Amino acid sequence: MVTEHATAPAAGAAATPDQNSRVCFFQGQYVRLGDARIPIMTHAFLYGTGVFEGIRAYWNPDEKQLYALRIKEHIVRLRNSCKIMLMAEVPSVEDFSEIVTQVLRRNDFREDAYCRPSVYKSTEAIGVKLHGLTHDFYVLAVPMGDYIDTEKGIPTGTVSWRRTSDVSMPSRSKITGSYVNPAFSKTEAMLNGFDEAIVLTNDGHVAEGSAENLFIVRDGVLITPSVSEDILEGITRAGIIEIAAHLGITVKERQIDRSELYIADEVFLCGTGAQVSPVASVDHRAVGDGRVGPISRLVSKTYFDAVRGRLPEFRHWVTPIYKG
Ligand SMILES: Cc1ncc(COP(=O)(O)O)c(C=O)c1O
Repeated sequence: MVTEHATAPAAGAAATPDQNSRVCFFQGQYVRLGDARIPIMTHAFLYGTGVFEGIRAYWNPDEKQLYALRIKEHIVRLRNSCKIMLMAEVPSVEDFSEIVTQVLRRNDFREDAYCRPSVYKSTEAIGVKLHGLTHDFYVLAVPMGDYIDTEKGIPTGTVSWRRTSDVSMPSRSKITGSYVNPAFSKTEAMLNGFDEAIVLTNDGHVAEGSAENLFIVRDGVLITPSVSEDILEGITRAGIIEIAAHLGITVKERQIDRSELYIADEVFLCGTGAQVSPVASVDHRAVGDGRVGPISRLVSKTYFDAVRGRLPEFRHWVTPIYKG
């Protein structure tokens, strides 16, 4: 049994003694997070050759149940990332999902949480390559509240960095080393006074946020960059498309120009961390009248109800962690 946090810390908080006593899966066993340590010669530490997923779990206080969101989809994407990175032998979707469920259960969370499964090149050696290396995996979980504002709309700005293109770094997989690119974007945006970055592709089209996919609304239609625009193929993005179908809202996947953001009726970001985050402004131009628009509000409400297991139509998204 692990100590409860009264309130979940925001993303980016440093490890606390409490956090170190959480349970994780590491080198084939369930151990204290504080005891899961890797040698500094580990290839993934030297070169960023790991892949990971972020899975949220939502506490439903009425049902006293923790619901993990879309475990299977995350594990399928994790395994795809492994394939891209030449990591052939990884646990099956079922086995990996069971470990994720166990880690969440063993931590006995009574609040929203975040689970991170990761597969990494574990060989201890100098040498930049992907082949001929061993790999291992871990699964950790920590409490997590809201990552960015989900209510009133955030100020955003385009940044000078470009989203890594698929010809340089596979953007559809979550490779640990590739997260330096979003880190540059996020920090540039924040140091410029915005809450979040809007990142463009090499040819200047809108790709996504630093770690979120992006939707705009024009004339009642939801528009989002297609999966060949160097975006991460987001699981929340797929969920929003499913919600739109359920609500009878048309979705188009196509290129979006930067100036379209300035005249869009609504803009929102979405992702595991960000959930659904309406955008109040882009590059100092108010989105619509600067307030959260009706489609963003409706999609967001449906999303937040779905993830806590409150909507029968979306029950297939969630896995109850506690039995009975
Ligand atoms: C670069 C990037 N884009 C988009 C997303 C949103 O993806 P998902 O909804 O699967 O979390 C994330 C977060 O995981 C991300 O890191």
